[in-house]
Amino acid sequence: MRRQIVAGNWKMNNNLTETDILIADLKRQNKTSNAEVKIAPTYTNLWHAYQALRLTEIEVIAQNMHFAEKGAYTGEVSADMLQSVGVKTVILGHSERRAYFNETAEMLAKKVDAALDNDMNVIFCFGEELDDRKSGNHQQVVESQIRNGLFHLEEDKWDSIVMAYEPVWAIGTGETATPEQAQEMHAFIRSVLQSAYKPGIAEKTPILYGGSVKPGNAEEIFSKPDVDGGLIGGAALKAEDFFAIVNAF
Ligand code: PGA
Repeated sequence: MRRQIVAGNWKMNNNLTETDILIADLKRQNKTSNAEVKIAPTYTNLWHAYQALRLTEIEVIAQNMHFAEKGAYTGEVSADMLQSVGVKTVILGHSERRAYFNETAEMLAKKVDAALDNDMNVIFCFGEELDDRKSGNHQQVVESQIRNGLFHLEEDKWDSIVMAYEPVWAIGTGETATPEQAQEMHAFIRSVLQSAYKPGIAEKTPILYGGSVKPGNAEEIFSKPDVDGGLIGGAALKAEDFFAIVNAF
């Protein structure tokens, strides 16, 4: 059975005080599923969150990082810096990074390598825009995003990879892909993996769905055979909602 994962992407929300309040709320929740739980606060709160959650089942992860080891990259954060504050997993390729910060396929492949070289795990995001779906190109777009970002990796690296399909038109819009649309894309992703690598990789790599997952729709989405969990934005900012999603398995 594949790992089940629910990760909360806090985006640019919650200062230190608000982070404390949300973490205290998260600690009060009851976990009834076997899903791994992760939260991604902003950089400034990672060390604090790590310390607060160190003895719990909630892993603190990062929303992004730079590919360089160190040097003259004003405003950026390296894999080593994340490691040094207890962070072992990083989200890469989120559509907001691609769209607002011009992250290219080439940069993302370098980021993936830098994370893996530093023994970190990666949640690699990708997904089509509305126009791609309307024109029927969604599978082609997704295939090229995952090929460019991940398919240079040797087979043994895939243990550190989690994929996250996030159709751009469903992020923060309240519009969710139907469970059938999610399943269809996840099965397609697995078939692309299957064609490039030995079968074990496609079978064991978790593929998360992201885009307006809420307590009310999580159970149906997670019930699909190729959906192994969710990357949650808005609903991750309320402890009760987030844990209702964690417990939807
Ligand atoms: P959303 O965001 O749940 O608010 O749609 C998902 C994401 O961006 O990962």
